[in-house]
Amino acid sequence: MVRHFKRGYVVIKERSSFKYFSKSDGSFNDLMSKSIAFHDLKQSTFIFPRVKDSNPEERYIEYETLTNIVNIREVYIRFMKGDLSECEAKKIFSDVGKALADMHKLLKLKNKDLILKNEKFSSLLKGKEISFGKNCAFLHTDYGFSNIFINLDQKICIIDPYANNYTSSNIVNAWGPVEIDIATFLMCLEGLIPFKYLLYLSGKKIDILKKAFLAGYYSIVGYEQDREHLKKATMLFLDVYLYHRYKSRVLVMAIKVYIFVIKKVKFSS
Ligand SMILES: Nc1ncnc2c1ncn2[C@@H]1O[C@H](COP(=O)(O)OP(=O)(O)O)[C@@H](O)[C@H]1O
Ligand SMILES: [Mg+2]
Repeated sequence: MVRHFKRGYVVIKERSSFKYFSKSDGSFNDLMSKSIAFHDLKQSTFIFPRVKDSNPEERYIEYETLTNIVNIREVYIRFMKGDLSECEAKKIFSDVGKALADMHKLLKLKNKDLILKNEKFSSLLKGKEISFGKNCAFLHTDYGFSNIFINLDQKICIIDPYANNYTSSNIVNAWGPVEIDIATFLMCLEGLIPFKYLLYLSGKKIDILKKAFLAGYYSIVGYEQDREHLKKATMLFLDVYLYHRYKSRVLVMAIKVYIFVIKKVKFSS
Protein backbone atom coordinates (compact mmCIF):
# COMPACT_ATOMS: atom_id res chain seq x y z
CA MET A 1 0.00 0.00 0.00
CA VAL A 2 1.45 3.36 -1.03
CA ARG A 3 0.24 6.60 0.53
CA HIS A 4 0.46 9.99 -1.14
CA PHE A 5 -0.37 12.93 1.09
CA LYS A 6 -1.65 15.57 -1.14
CA ARG A 7 -3.37 18.92 -1.12
CA GLY A 8 -7.10 18.18 -0.79
CA TYR A 9 -6.97 14.44 -0.28
CA VAL A 10 -4.89 11.39 0.54
CA VAL A 11 -4.27 8.86 -2.22
CA ILE A 12 -3.74 5.23 -1.32
CA LYS A 13 -2.62 2.65 -3.85
CA GLU A 14 -4.17 -0.72 -3.29
CA ARG A 15 -3.73 -3.93 -5.25
CA SER A 16 -6.07 -3.05 -8.09
CA SER A 17 -7.23 0.46 -7.38
CA PHE A 18 -6.41 3.94 -6.13
CA LYS A 19 -8.40 5.31 -3.21
CA TYR A 20 -8.70 9.09 -2.79
CA PHE A 21 -9.72 10.19 0.69
CA SER A 22 -11.12 13.69 0.53
CA LYS A 23 -9.98 15.80 3.47
CA SER A 24 -12.65 18.45 3.15
CA ASP A 25 -16.40 17.87 3.55
CA GLY A 26 -17.45 20.22 0.80
CA SER A 27 -15.48 18.83 -2.09
CA PHE A 28 -16.41 15.14 -1.86
CA ASN A 29 -19.59 15.34 -3.94
CA ASP A 30 -17.97 17.64 -6.47
CA LEU A 31 -14.98 15.33 -6.85
CA MET A 32 -17.32 12.43 -7.30
CA SER A 33 -19.44 14.09 -10.02
CA LYS A 34 -16.41 15.45 -11.85
CA SER A 35 -14.80 11.99 -11.91
CA ILE A 36 -17.95 10.34 -13.21
CA ALA A 37 -18.48 13.06 -15.81
CA PHE A 38 -14.89 12.63 -16.98
CA HIS A 39 -15.13 8.89 -17.30
CA ASP A 40 -18.48 9.08 -19.10
CA LEU A 41 -17.45 11.58 -21.77
CA LYS A 42 -18.44 10.21 -25.14
CA GLN A 43 -15.20 10.64 -26.99
CA SER A 44 -12.31 8.56 -28.15
CA THR A 45 -9.29 10.74 -27.48
CA PHE A 46 -8.55 9.77 -23.89
CA ILE A 47 -9.24 7.42 -21.00
CA PHE A 48 -10.16 8.48 -17.48
CA PRO A 49 -10.27 5.80 -14.74
CA ARG A 50 -13.65 4.44 -13.75
CA VAL A 51 -14.95 5.06 -10.27
CA LYS A 52 -15.16 1.56 -8.76
CA ASP A 53 -16.56 2.49 -5.40
CA SER A 54 -17.13 5.45 -3.14
CA ASN A 55 -18.18 6.13 0.41
CA PRO A 56 -19.50 9.56 1.39
CA GLU A 57 -19.18 8.83 5.15
CA GLU A 58 -15.56 7.84 4.90
CA ARG A 59 -15.18 10.38 2.08
CA TYR A 60 -13.28 8.20 -0.31
CA ILE A 61 -13.48 7.59 -4.04
CA GLU A 62 -11.93 4.43 -5.38
CA TYR A 63 -10.70 4.43 -8.97
CA GLU A 64 -9.72 1.51 -11.15
CA THR A 65 -5.97 1.32 -11.76
CA LEU A 66 -4.92 2.19 -15.28
CA THR A 67 -2.46 -0.48 -16.32
CA ASN A 68 0.55 -0.51 -18.66
CA ILE A 69 0.85 3.22 -18.66
CA VAL A 70 3.90 5.39 -19.26
CA ASN A 71 4.01 8.90 -17.87
CA ILE A 72 4.17 11.63 -20.51
CA ARG A 73 7.22 13.18 -18.79
CA GLU A 74 9.06 9.97 -19.56
CA VAL A 75 7.99 10.18 -23.21
CA TYR A 76 9.25 13.78 -23.27
CA ILE A 77 12.63 12.75 -21.80
CA ARG A 78 12.96 9.89 -24.30
CA PHE A 79 12.43 12.33 -27.14
CA MET A 80 14.97 14.78 -25.68
CA LYS A 81 17.50 11.96 -25.34
CA GLY A 82 16.95 10.83 -28.93
CA ASP A 83 15.28 7.54 -27.94
CA LEU A 84 11.97 8.43 -29.62
CA SER A 85 11.51 9.57 -33.21
CA GLU A 86 10.19 13.03 -34.06
CA CYS A 87 7.26 11.48 -35.87
CA GLU A 88 6.19 9.39 -32.85
CA ALA A 89 6.69 12.29 -30.46
CA LYS A 90 4.63 14.65 -32.62
CA LYS A 91 1.77 12.16 -32.79
CA ILE A 92 1.73 11.62 -29.01
CA PHE A 93 1.90 15.32 -28.08
CA SER A 94 -0.70 16.21 -30.68
CA ASP A 95 -2.94 13.59 -29.03
CA VAL A 96 -2.30 15.24 -25.64
CA GLY A 97 -3.61 18.48 -27.21
CA LYS A 98 -6.61 16.74 -28.76
CA ALA A 99 -7.50 15.12 -25.44
CA LEU A 100 -7.49 18.50 -23.70
CA ALA A 101 -9.61 20.06 -26.45
CA ASP A 102 -12.13 17.25 -26.26
CA MET A 103 -12.29 17.68 -22.52
CA HIS A 104 -12.94 21.40 -22.88
CA LYS A 105 -15.57 20.81 -25.55
CA LEU A 106 -17.46 18.05 -23.82
CA LEU A 107 -17.10 18.24 -20.06
CA LYS A 108 -20.27 19.55 -18.43
CA LEU A 109 -20.69 19.93 -14.68
CA LYS A 110 -23.67 21.15 -12.68
CA ASN A 111 -22.06 24.11 -10.94
CA LYS A 112 -19.60 26.63 -12.29
CA ASP A 113 -16.92 27.85 -9.91
CA LEU A 114 -15.23 30.76 -11.65
CA ILE A 115 -11.49 30.21 -11.50
CA LEU A 116 -10.76 33.87 -12.17
CA LYS A 117 -12.55 34.60 -8.90
CA ASN A 118 -10.61 31.95 -6.99
CA GLU A 119 -8.67 33.77 -4.28
CA LYS A 120 -5.35 32.17 -5.12
CA PHE A 121 -5.71 32.51 -8.87
CA SER A 122 -6.84 36.13 -8.80
CA SER A 123 -3.95 37.06 -6.49
CA LEU A 124 -1.50 35.70 -9.07
CA LEU A 125 -2.86 38.00 -11.73
CA LYS A 126 -2.64 41.17 -9.66
CA GLY A 127 -0.37 43.71 -11.31
CA LYS A 128 0.29 41.39 -14.27
CA GLU A 129 -0.63 42.33 -17.80
CA ILE A 130 -2.29 39.06 -18.59
CA SER A 131 -5.64 38.99 -20.24
CA PHE A 132 -7.39 35.79 -21.10
CA GLY A 133 -9.60 35.21 -24.13
CA LYS A 134 -13.31 34.58 -24.23
CA ASN A 135 -13.16 30.82 -24.76
CA CYS A 136 -14.17 29.30 -21.46
CA ALA A 137 -14.77 25.72 -20.37
CA PHE A 138 -14.73 23.44 -17.37
CA LEU A 139 -11.04 23.01 -16.68
CA HIS A 140 -8.87 20.11 -15.61
CA THR A 141 -6.82 22.57 -13.45
CA ASP A 142 -3.71 20.37 -13.26
CA TYR A 143 -3.07 19.39 -16.88
CA GLY A 144 0.62 18.76 -16.37
CA PHE A 145 3.16 16.00 -16.93
CA SER A 146 2.35 14.14 -13.69
CA ASN A 147 -1.29 13.56 -14.56
CA ILE A 148 -1.01 12.46 -18.18
CA PHE A 149 0.02 9.00 -19.40
CA ILE A 150 -0.01 6.91 -22.55
CA ASN A 151 -0.98 3.23 -22.56
CA LEU A 152 0.08 0.30 -24.73
CA ASP A 153 -2.64 1.13 -27.29
CA GLN A 154 -1.11 4.62 -27.57
CA LYS A 155 -4.18 6.10 -25.91
CA ILE A 156 -3.84 9.17 -23.70
CA CYS A 157 -4.82 8.52 -20.07
CA ILE A 158 -5.68 11.36 -17.70
CA ILE A 159 -6.05 11.46 -13.91
CA ASP A 160 -6.31 13.92 -11.02
CA PRO A 161 -8.54 16.77 -12.37
CA TYR A 162 -8.39 18.84 -9.21
CA ALA A 163 -6.80 22.19 -8.30
CA ASN A 164 -3.02 22.00 -8.42
CA ASN A 165 -2.68 24.18 -5.34
CA TYR A 166 -0.02 26.47 -6.78
CA THR A 167 -2.20 28.42 -9.22
CA SER A 168 -5.58 27.70 -7.60
CA SER A 169 -6.89 25.96 -4.54
CA ASN A 170 -10.09 24.37 -3.21
CA ILE A 171 -11.79 24.43 -6.57
CA VAL A 172 -13.29 21.41 -8.31
CA ASN A 173 -15.92 22.66 -10.77
CA ALA A 174 -13.42 25.14 -12.15
CA TRP A 175 -14.80 27.16 -15.04
CA GLY A 176 -12.66 29.67 -16.91
CA PRO A 177 -10.49 30.55 -19.91
CA VAL A 178 -9.13 27.48 -21.68
CA GLU A 179 -5.65 29.09 -21.81
CA ILE A 180 -5.26 28.14 -18.14
CA ASP A 181 -5.07 24.41 -18.94
CA ILE A 182 -3.18 25.00 -22.19
CA ALA A 183 -0.52 27.15 -20.50
CA THR A 184 -0.15 24.62 -17.68
CA PHE A 185 0.93 22.01 -20.20
CA LEU A 186 3.09 24.47 -22.17
CA MET A 187 4.84 25.27 -18.87
CA CYS A 188 5.76 21.59 -18.48
CA LEU A 189 7.05 21.49 -22.05
CA GLU A 190 9.52 24.28 -21.19
CA GLY A 191 11.46 21.61 -19.33
CA LEU A 192 9.91 20.52 -16.05
CA ILE A 193 11.99 17.40 -15.69
CA PRO A 194 14.42 16.17 -13.02
CA PHE A 195 17.73 18.06 -12.87
CA LYS A 196 19.72 15.09 -14.08
CA TYR A 197 18.00 15.29 -17.48
CA LEU A 198 18.25 19.05 -17.98
CA LEU A 199 21.30 18.73 -20.19
CA TYR A 200 19.23 16.83 -22.73
CA LEU A 201 16.84 19.76 -23.26
CA SER A 202 16.77 21.14 -26.77
CA GLY A 203 14.95 24.34 -27.72
CA LYS A 204 14.34 22.98 -31.18
CA LYS A 205 12.72 19.80 -29.89
CA ILE A 206 10.67 21.76 -27.36
CA ASP A 207 9.33 23.94 -30.18
CA ILE A 208 8.38 20.82 -32.14
CA LEU A 209 6.39 19.50 -29.16
CA LYS A 210 4.72 22.83 -28.45
CA LYS A 211 3.61 23.10 -32.06
CA ALA A 212 2.33 19.52 -32.11
CA PHE A 213 0.41 19.97 -28.85
CA LEU A 214 -1.20 23.25 -29.99
CA ALA A 215 -1.96 21.90 -33.48
CA GLY A 216 -3.71 18.92 -31.86
CA TYR A 217 -5.75 21.22 -29.63
CA TYR A 218 -6.69 23.62 -32.45
CA SER A 219 -7.63 20.76 -34.79
CA ILE A 220 -10.48 19.85 -32.44
CA VAL A 221 -11.73 23.27 -31.36
CA GLY A 222 -11.29 24.99 -34.71
CA TYR A 223 -9.79 28.25 -33.47
CA GLU A 224 -6.38 29.47 -32.30
CA GLN A 225 -5.39 31.26 -29.12
CA ASP A 226 -3.49 34.52 -29.01
CA ARG A 227 0.19 33.49 -28.88
CA GLU A 228 1.38 36.39 -26.75
CA HIS A 229 -1.26 35.79 -24.09
CA LEU A 230 -0.40 32.12 -23.99
CA LYS A 231 3.28 32.89 -23.65
CA LYS A 232 2.69 35.32 -20.79
CA ALA A 233 0.45 32.87 -18.94
CA THR A 234 2.99 30.06 -19.46
CA MET A 235 5.83 32.15 -18.02
CA LEU A 236 3.69 33.26 -15.07
CA PHE A 237 2.73 29.66 -14.24
CA LEU A 238 6.35 28.57 -14.59
CA ASP A 239 7.44 31.18 -12.03
CA VAL A 240 4.64 30.30 -9.66
CA TYR A 241 5.23 26.57 -9.98
CA LEU A 242 8.99 26.81 -9.48
CA TYR A 243 8.57 29.05 -6.47
CA HIS A 244 5.94 26.72 -4.99
CA ARG A 245 8.30 23.80 -5.50
CA TYR A 246 11.67 25.28 -4.50
CA LYS A 247 10.63 28.12 -2.15
CA SER A 248 13.56 30.32 -3.10
CA ARG A 249 13.62 33.21 -5.58
CA VAL A 250 17.34 32.73 -6.16
CA LEU A 251 16.97 29.04 -6.94
CA VAL A 252 14.02 29.76 -9.25
CA MET A 253 16.09 32.32 -11.12
CA ALA A 254 19.00 29.89 -11.38
CA ILE A 255 16.77 27.10 -12.74
CA LYS A 256 15.21 29.45 -15.30
CA VAL A 257 18.55 30.72 -16.49
CA TYR A 258 19.83 27.16 -16.69
CA ILE A 259 16.79 25.91 -18.64
CA PHE A 260 16.71 28.82 -21.07
CA VAL A 261 20.48 29.10 -21.61
CA ILE A 262 20.81 25.39 -22.34
CA LYS A 263 17.93 25.49 -24.77
CA LYS A 264 19.40 28.50 -26.56
CA VAL A 265 22.82 26.89 -26.91
CA LYS A 266 21.24 23.73 -28.27
CA PHE A 267 19.04 25.77 -30.58
CA SER A 268 21.97 27.45 -32.29
CA SER A 269 24.11 24.30 -32.49
N1 LIG B 1 -6.23 5.39 -11.40
C1 LIG B 1 -4.91 5.32 -11.44
N2 LIG B 1 -4.31 4.41 -12.23
C2 LIG B 1 -2.96 4.31 -12.28
N3 LIG B 1 -2.12 5.10 -11.58
C3 LIG B 1 -2.67 6.04 -10.78
C4 LIG B 1 -4.07 6.22 -10.68
N4 LIG B 1 -4.33 7.22 -9.80
C5 LIG B 1 -3.11 7.65 -9.38
N5 LIG B 1 -2.11 6.95 -9.96
C6 LIG B 1 -0.66 7.08 -9.71
O1 LIG B 1 -0.46 7.75 -8.47
C7 LIG B 1 0.25 8.96 -8.68
C8 LIG B 1 -0.32 10.03 -7.77
O2 LIG B 1 -1.66 10.28 -8.09
P1 LIG B 1 -2.24 11.74 -8.23
O3 LIG B 1 -3.70 11.67 -8.10
O4 LIG B 1 -1.74 12.36 -9.48
O5 LIG B 1 -1.62 12.46 -6.94
P2 LIG B 1 -0.52 13.64 -6.87
O6 LIG B 1 -0.84 14.62 -7.93
O7 LIG B 1 -0.64 14.20 -5.52
O8 LIG B 1 0.83 12.99 -7.08
C9 LIG B 1 0.11 9.28 -10.16
O9 LIG B 1 1.20 10.00 -10.68
C10 LIG B 1 0.04 7.90 -10.78
O10 LIG B 1 1.34 7.38 -10.97
MG1 LIG C 1 -1.22 14.29 -9.85
